[in-house]
Amino acid sequence: MAQYDVIVIGAGPGGYVAAIRCAQLGLKTACVEGRETLGGTCLNVGCIPSKALLHASHQLHEAEENFAKMGLKGKAPSVDWKQMLSYKDDVIGQNTGGIEFLFKKNKIDWLKGWGSIPEAGKVKVGDEVHEAKNIIIASGSAPASVPGAEVEIDEKVVVTSTGALELPKIPKKMVVIGAGVIGLEMGSVYKRLGSEVTVIEFLDTITPTMDTEVQRNFKKMLTKQGLEFTLGAAVSKVETKGGKAKVTYKLRKDDSEHSVDADVVLVATGRKPYTEGLGLDALGIETTKGGQIKTDSHWATSVKGVYAIGDAIEGPMLAHKAEDEGMACAEVIAGKHGHVNYNVIPSVIYTHPEVASVGATEQELKDAGKAYKVGKFSFMGNGRAKAVFAGDGFVKLLADKETDRILGCHIIGPAAGDLIHEVCVAMEYGGSAEDLALPCPAHPTFSEAVREAALACGDGAIHA
Ligand code: NAI
Repeated sequence: MAQYDVIVIGAGPGGYVAAIRCAQLGLKTACVEGRETLGGTCLNVGCIPSKALLHASHQLHEAEENFAKMGLKGKAPSVDWKQMLSYKDDVIGQNTGGIEFLFKKNKIDWLKGWGSIPEAGKVKVGDEVHEAKNIIIASGSAPASVPGAEVEIDEKVVVTSTGALELPKIPKKMVVIGAGVIGLEMGSVYKRLGSEVTVIEFLDTITPTMDTEVQRNFKKMLTKQGLEFTLGAAVSKVETKGGKAKVTYKLRKDDSEHSVDADVVLVATGRKPYTEGLGLDALGIETTKGGQIKTDSHWATSVKGVYAIGDAIEGPMLAHKAEDEGMACAEVIAGKHGHVNYNVIPSVIYTHPEVASVGATEQELKDAGKAYKVGKFSFMGNGRAKAVFAGDGFVKLLADKETDRILGCHIIGPAAGDLIHEVCVAMEYGGSAEDLALPCPAHPTFSEAVREAALACGDGAIHA
């Protein structure tokens, strides 16, 4: 029986980062993972493969839409789907192999198999029981089904994001259930590759947690790209027959029933914590109604020596939130002061244009009765954006009316996911809009649009 200071269960971004940090801090560490490769959902069937397909399909869009405008003439490329999938698989392999290398480098034992916790201080993998002074549960999440609807997922005709990443062929007609992050990212991929895509959303807006102004503009842009939306519609049934599907939904405004046919239906109505088989009940670990493991502010569960992080606990299901918790939890176990600032966790949708946000939305500030000011700058005023056909969108910065402290930022436009980070840095240090406008951004860069939005909170943007 092997003995460890820490055993981490799950090697996704939360788990593998926790394991690496534990090892760096001198703790004898193992990580349990049942998949064939490390990296969890994110690297194998989530963030990374979807970005590969978004990149490839965006290149096709550029060739079809913009190459001729730039004087690049010739036949537009055709899609070799098998090759595109093998490029995606290669990207997965490089990334998962990278984590295996990091485990070896940091002398972390990979315990292959699915782990359970028969009692505090013990982790069972296969027939073997390993001892650990501390256990970190980082078991992640799995796709949730459509609430209140009859839907059977076969990962062929009715798929989750996992099946959507390896469809045998590009569907002629795809119906996406849920206008959230997964639905819009994968919907964009297949639209660019030639599918007819209809997105059915329960609420009256897409991306419900985003700033209202961003939602409105984003929907307009996606509609212009050819995505069709049916909003305010509750899906009640998905039937499959002869390799095709029929999706039935009711419009909430008048309760009328409608249906739409599809070659593939993507179910993207959220994810739920994945804790099956861990033995949480027998162990007495408290969970919420939604199945999330309850933890205190230092990621300790109700059982001493057992911690939990990432999608398995409360909070947004985001790889970078899990990574931050992984690092901080390891530091707490090592007797240091691990901390996560939950107010400054950005969220990004990797469509084209990208959408990124951090902090409060304007609606939230209004509802809270907070006095705020808005600094907004359109990418149309940014020279670099115009040069690369990316003038659509804006940076919207929200700051406290009295103190000028940054309260939130919402970006729709080129490289939004990268740009948001400079706002996060400013917010992490309690910065004001004036602080954000201080450093000199290189010209011509997209970053200039962030500075202009910050200037717009003060004496005014220059190029507006
Ligand atoms: P989501 O929570 O982003 O969106 C689900 C959508 O489905 C919501 O708009 C909801 O109103 C709608 N919906 C729920 N029930 C419905 C029904 N019966 N009929 C029609 N619409 C319905 O969930 P999603 O896109 O599945 O993503 C899951 C998780 O994965 C999220 O927490 C997300 O943040 C994370 N993720 C993050 C990514 C990123 O950071 N870029 C990429 C992909 C996933």
